[in-house]
Amino acid sequence: MATPCRIRRLLVLLAAVAVAASHPAHEFCAAAGGGGGGAGGCGGGGDGTRILIKGGTMVNAHRAEEADVYIEDGVVVAVRPNILVGDDNVKVIDATGKYVMPGGIDPHTHLEMEFMGTVTIDDFYSGHAAALAGGTTMHIDFVIPVNGNLTAGLESYKHKAEKSAMDYGFHMAITKWNDEVSREMEVMVKEHGGCILSSAFLDYSVTYCYMTKILCAKFSGINSFKFFMAYKGSLMVTDDLLLQGLQKCKSLGALAMVHAENGDAVAEGQQRMIDLGITGPEGHALSRPPVLEGEATSRAIRLAKFVNTPLYVVHVMSTDAMEEIAKAKREGQRVIGEPVVSGLVLDDSWLWDPDFATASKYVMSPPIREAGHNKALQAALSSGILQLVGTDHCTFNSTQKAFGSDDFRKIPNGVNGIEERMHIIWDSMVETGKITVTDYVRVTSTECAKIFNIYPRKGAILEGSDADIIVLNPKRSFAMGTRTHHTRSDTNVYEGRKGKGMVEVTISRGRVVWEDGNLNAVPGAGRYVRTPPFGYLFDGLDKSDAVYRASLRAPVQRGEAAAAAA
Ligand code: URP
Ligand code: ZN
Ligand code: ZN
Repeated sequence: MATPCRIRRLLVLLAAVAVAASHPAHEFCAAAGGGGGGAGGCGGGGDGTRILIKGGTMVNAHRAEEADVYIEDGVVVAVRPNILVGDDNVKVIDATGKYVMPGGIDPHTHLEMEFMGTVTIDDFYSGHAAALAGGTTMHIDFVIPVNGNLTAGLESYKHKAEKSAMDYGFHMAITKWNDEVSREMEVMVKEHGGCILSSAFLDYSVTYCYMTKILCAKFSGINSFKFFMAYKGSLMVTDDLLLQGLQKCKSLGALAMVHAENGDAVAEGQQRMIDLGITGPEGHALSRPPVLEGEATSRAIRLAKFVNTPLYVVHVMSTDAMEEIAKAKREGQRVIGEPVVSGLVLDDSWLWDPDFATASKYVMSPPIREAGHNKALQAALSSGILQLVGTDHCTFNSTQKAFGSDDFRKIPNGVNGIEERMHIIWDSMVETGKITVTDYVRVTSTECAKIFNIYPRKGAILEGSDADIIVLNPKRSFAMGTRTHHTRSDTNVYEGRKGKGMVEVTISRGRVVWEDGNLNAVPGAGRYVRTPPFGYLFDGLDKSDAVYRASLRAPVQRGEAAAAAA
């Protein structure tokens, strides 16, 4: 007998065929929110490639095990020991003595971004090539609105991303506020000219059945908005805007992100340095000390608490900011802290280098701090105060950095990292015993997929997950720098850095794109990964809102109303 599940599955399949036919290959269907990543036909690389990764230690954030991984058509099909396929057309990768892990997901990048009068040197091709060579298979980039207009910003970034060589998602920056922006935020989260596929457990009164469903609700695929509390005169928002934005984010189930520095005080600090005759790169660090990062982090956290919405603090660079996050977490607030690789392993001594070209390449905001902050941030990452690692990859070459040779305020802010992140975190955190191998997967991949609601399609090696996988050899060493890197920049803030652990193979949705030092990054092969709203950070907020309302004991009935009630 045809059960409701069977009938619906059939309808879903027919609809899925229609939807797939109406979507160009470059376009992407939504990531599964619930179980069954890759469901809905979203994952496939589609070129029929079959790969067997044999003999390795397969690591997910929840456990490491000895297991082979079999991949077909861009999707993980089987994960278990001793898989035999007996087919010459299957590519076999020997991972004996190596770790097989989900590809990295970088939550924070700026490719081809117009900023400080110039454009970042890596675009969606060169940035992706660098990422893949370093074991990162997905990133989430920040769309910058065009004159405050979100739709124009998204259109521009869609165009930039046409040359993408790996999967990507988008956050959206909010740089001004009016009714139009508020409405456009809804468009970013909800509207889209077609149907999407999603997975869900559906309740048919007696039994639950797992199936794929078609959502014809409109859906643009952005579930996070960033508010810059710094960069006065360009991207900076006021507290009023931040408050409006936090409320809007909450109503949409979208995550609010902040660049937390007090932009007014930074402008004062910059003028103070200029008045003191300090015009070189060291003036950058001196003008925006950790106290300004701590203040803004605390302010954003408190406003998010007032609104009762989750908050994501990007590029946590100082102990001051980290301690604000730790305090909020202790009090039960949902705050995510993202350190970046530069903040975890570098220190500000470079900014005092007498050579301008050397010093200026370390200029980013918030600044890389003096030694001590980095170790404290590492400890916070180990203990879970900080949850996932980004890069803030925002590269400018030495010619661009030289725009500020006589005034540090004109040095374009940003450093590289998309290619180095996976290696540096392995070497500095796993090799030193600060985190475990499963933690490594969590902080470089899984946590990001969970926060942005694309797990387990991304961030895991499970049956049905996208085949975004790396093979890391813990015995081999790496050396970093301009001689071997793949970004377009002529500088590298990790120049000469050596360490242990080498990503030998990168597989991007079922295609081997990096093996034995050979890169095969194909422009146009990447796909846009829509991030659905109401991720896990929003679970139960309605309940805490209800508790809040019940706690008000108001309005108090007075006068005639009280008499009538009595
Ligand atoms: O210096 C930085 N961080 N540049 C990129 C823009 C930002 O603030 O994230
Ligand atoms: Zn920022
Ligand atoms: Zn950034």
